[in-house]
Amino acid sequence: MLYLLDTADVREIARCVDLYPVAGVTTNPSIIAEAKRPFLDILTDIREVIGEKLMLHVQVTGSDAETMVAEAYRLRDRFGAGILPKVCVTPQGLKAIRLLAASGFSVTATAVGTPQQALLAARAGAAFAAPYVNRLDNIYGDGIGVVTTIVRLFLAHGLSTRVLAASFKNVQQIQDVALAGGQAVTLTPELLEMVVRHPLTDSGLEGFMADWEGAYGKGTTLLDLVPDGVSGSPARAAIG
Ligand code: E4P
Repeated sequence: MLYLLDTADVREIARCVDLYPVAGVTTNPSIIAEAKRPFLDILTDIREVIGEKLMLHVQVTGSDAETMVAEAYRLRDRFGAGILPKVCVTPQGLKAIRLLAASGFSVTATAVGTPQQALLAARAGAAFAAPYVNRLDNIYGDGIGVVTTIVRLFLAHGLSTRVLAASFKNVQQIQDVALAGGQAVTLTPELLEMVVRHPLTDSGLEGFMADWEGAYGKGTTLLDLVPDGVSGSPARAAIG
């Protein structure tokens, strides 16, 4: 399962990309607006931080297919092929997805609420379909059930469209998408931290370090104890 960052916070993106195996960044108009910076600056900074290889999903905002298509071309001209236009699954959106996919764009069909919307988007040629798990859960819409059904439909119908599940509020939802066979999730840096961390890991490490430092001294690492093949002796003496 791929992990993407659902944010326009460039510092957080830089931190997470440095630490974690992040596959890309997703944004939406609300996320962009929250950054309160010029649109072009945001995208330029994100691209600079994530490099050319990671995906950058950017939502178009036109209300008709022709405008959406033109927006996608404009984004690609400016930021290269690593840009994936995000298009909401509406009647005009489905038309735009079909036109863009036919022109070689990898499109993310977004704001998916039902398996049939995802299936239509896949038929239109979307590379990803993004069901909104938590927003569905908020209205008793069984977000994970929708993800599970979409995964099954894509498999049953031999469709190569991948599920990029979005809208999460807790780690359980992420885990359930993974278990359902979802190919990707996009989540906030805060939630990614929650996915990474566990109190058992922290207390385990604390215990290891207390024992280690009692024996070898604070701050001692293996580099201090294992002689460098080239330079010879360790920087610090081993115990005893
Ligand atoms: C994904 O593409 C959406 O931008 C996002 O995940 C929506 O998340 P929210 O429901 O937390 O706003």
